[in-house]
Amino acid sequence: MADIQNLEQQFGIPGILSFIEGDGGLPLAHVANPLAEADIALQGAHLLTWTPKGEPPVVWLSPQAKFAPGKSVRGGVPVCWPWFGVHPTEASYPAHGFARTQMWGLLATSHDDHGTRLVFELQLNDIARMQWPAPFHLRLVMNIGRELTMELTTRNTGQSAFALGEALHTYFHVGDISAVRVTGLENTDYLDKVRDFNRFHQDGAIQVNAEIDRVYVDTTAECVIHDGHLGRRIHVGKSGSLTTVVWNPWVEKCAQMGDMGEEGYRRMICVESANAHDNVVTLQPGESHTLGVRYWVER
Ligand code: BG6
Repeated sequence: MADIQNLEQQFGIPGILSFIEGDGGLPLAHVANPLAEADIALQGAHLLTWTPKGEPPVVWLSPQAKFAPGKSVRGGVPVCWPWFGVHPTEASYPAHGFARTQMWGLLATSHDDHGTRLVFELQLNDIARMQWPAPFHLRLVMNIGRELTMELTTRNTGQSAFALGEALHTYFHVGDISAVRVTGLENTDYLDKVRDFNRFHQDGAIQVNAEIDRVYVDTTAECVIHDGHLGRRIHVGKSGSLTTVVWNPWVEKCAQMGDMGEEGYRRMICVESANAHDNVVTLQPGESHTLGVRYWVER
């Protein structure tokens, strides 16, 4: 509890931002400002919920999510870094990198008319340092308001270049997946993970009626999640990202996963702003790169 008290003293904002010990003993930041509410776990700098005032939740958190030190949480916005998917050469390393399961430190918090801002920095334990020896700084700045913005900045502080894969792997909450269309990726090529990573071309809007796991490459497009059930459109804007991943595990995989909830696949769709596969980012010594997202709801 001493940690929670320290966090509260250093970073709490009375009536706006407080800290609690969440399930599994994970410290959480809780934001409740006039524009929105949100919860963020310091493990992974993992935003778990974001609910603008008057809206159903926009970010989906599985009702069966498991909270434990060193384990990734199903839902929210996992930060995939410094590789996306399986590690390019070491299959035993954790999928989507280690940033989502490491503790992050808080550097600063503030609040103004646009929302509440939190600045996180990744802290590495010895296992992660062994898996990624290249020196770096990694910061995540998020602003919780009517819009949710996140900026993930990587700086190469070492003497050699490195290749970086990354994603803000957001689970969006939808009323019912059968009434969802995703636009923005028309006329874009994708690698299809459920068809041996072969390359295909997207013609029209995306509709989901089976497992979908696609890595759209060379796209800077904003996507829109049209939700006919909840009668809203979620805008997924991005910057510094050339890849968009669309994922829904559908019935069988959802049942196998164990932390999705029985019908979890019906209530979510991942639209992930990323740099992966064809689009990994090479960072020269001293260089920085920022992957940014901006989400908002329209009715
Ligand atoms: C997606 C991948 O980004 O994340 C999927 O494209 C993967 O293949 C999904 O199943 C969930 O990954 P994880 O590691 O959180 O279970």
